[in-house]
Amino acid sequence: MKILVTGANGFLGYYLCRALLSHGYQVVATGRGECRLPFIGTPNFSYFPMDLVDSNQTRTIVSQAAADFIFHAAAIGKPDDCELNKELATRINTAGTSLLLELATISCTPFCYISTDFVFDGNSGNYKEEDLVNPVNHYGVTKAEAELLVRSYPGVWSIVRTVLVYGRPMTGRSNLLSIVQEKLNAGQPYAVVDDQIRTPTYVEDLVNGLLLLLQKRANGIYHLCGEEVLTPYQMALQTANYLGLDPALLIRTNSNAFKQPARRPLITGLIIDKSKQELGFQPRSFLQGLQATFSSS
Ligand SMILES: NC(=O)c1ccc[n+]([C@@H]2O[C@H](COP(=O)([O-])OP(=O)(O)OC[C@H]3O[C@@H](n4cnc5c(N)ncnc54)[C@H](OP(=O)(O)O)[C@@H]3O)[C@@H](O)[C@H]2O)c1
Repeated sequence: MKILVTGANGFLGYYLCRALLSHGYQVVATGRGECRLPFIGTPNFSYFPMDLVDSNQTRTIVSQAAADFIFHAAAIGKPDDCELNKELATRINTAGTSLLLELATISCTPFCYISTDFVFDGNSGNYKEEDLVNPVNHYGVTKAEAELLVRSYPGVWSIVRTVLVYGRPMTGRSNLLSIVQEKLNAGQPYAVVDDQIRTPTYVEDLVNGLLLLLQKRANGIYHLCGEEVLTPYQMALQTANYLGLDPALLIRTNSNAFKQPARRPLITGLIIDKSKQELGFQPRSFLQGLQATFSSS
C-alpha cells in the first residue's frame, strides 16, 4: 500500500515516515526542497520535492504518485510565523490543502489532515471532536478553514487534532522539551508560561494513532494527544528535573507578560475518549514521554 506524506521533512513527518516504513508501507515522502530524511536508499521509500505553493509541481507529483492514502502534515505550523505572514500562511495552510483535496478527488484517495487544538478559542478547554471551532489567531484560522474543506471531501476523510507535540526533533522544528534542554544546558534562562493549559503529545504516540486510523480506515474527526493536563511551565520544570538541569533558570511567566505576535488560546486540552474507544489509541504518560524523548541522548 502506497502512502503519500506531505511535510515529510518536518518533526512529525520524520517519525511518521519511519513508522510507515517499519510497518511495510510504501512511502512517497514529499517536502519543500531537498530531502532531509535519512531514509534514501531504504526499500519502499521515495522522496519528491513538492512545494504546495507550486501548483504545477504539486499536480505532477500527486498524480504520478498514485497513492492509496494521503497524510497531509505540511503547514506553516508556528503561530507567530502565520501571524506575521498571513497571506503566505493562508496560501500554504488553506489553499495548499484545497489543492491537495482537489487532486485527491480525482482518484478518491483517502485523505487524513493533521490539525490542531488551536482551532478552538481556549475559553473552556476539554474539547470534544464535535465542539465548535473559533480560532483566536491566524494559524488557527488557516487550520480551521482547511478543516472545513476536508469535511466536504467526497472520499474517505479524517481530521486529526493534536496538541503541543514533543519528542526528539530529528529533521523538523524544535519543541518545548528540546528547547529547555538546550537553554538550560547552556546556562541560559528560559521564560515559560504557566497559565496556558494543554494536553501535550509525545510524537510517537501521535504516529501510533495515525497508523491505527490508517489501518481502520477511520472517517471523521479524531483527537490524538496526551491525557495529562499540564502547563508549558510544568512541562519545562519536569523536563529540567528529569535531566538534572537547574530549574531556577526557568522563569515562570504568563500570557499577559509574555508578548508574542499571535495570541494563544488559554485553555485547550482535548478529550480523547473517541480515539481510545474507536481506534484503541492509548498515549503514554508525560514521564514516559520524557523517558522516550531522552532515552538515547
Ligand atoms: N508540533 C506541534 O506541536 C503541532 C501541534 C498541533 C498540530 N500540528 C500540526 O502538525 C503538522 C506537522 O507539524 P510539525 O510539528 O511536524 O511541524 P514542522 O516540523 O514545521 O513540519 C511542517 C512541514 O511542512 C513543511 N512545509 C511548510 N510549507 C510548505 C509548503 N509550501 N510546501 C510543502 N511543505 C511545506 C515544512 O517544510 P520545511 O521543513 O522546509 O519548513 C515542514 O517540513 C502541521 O500540520 C501542524 O499544523 C503540530
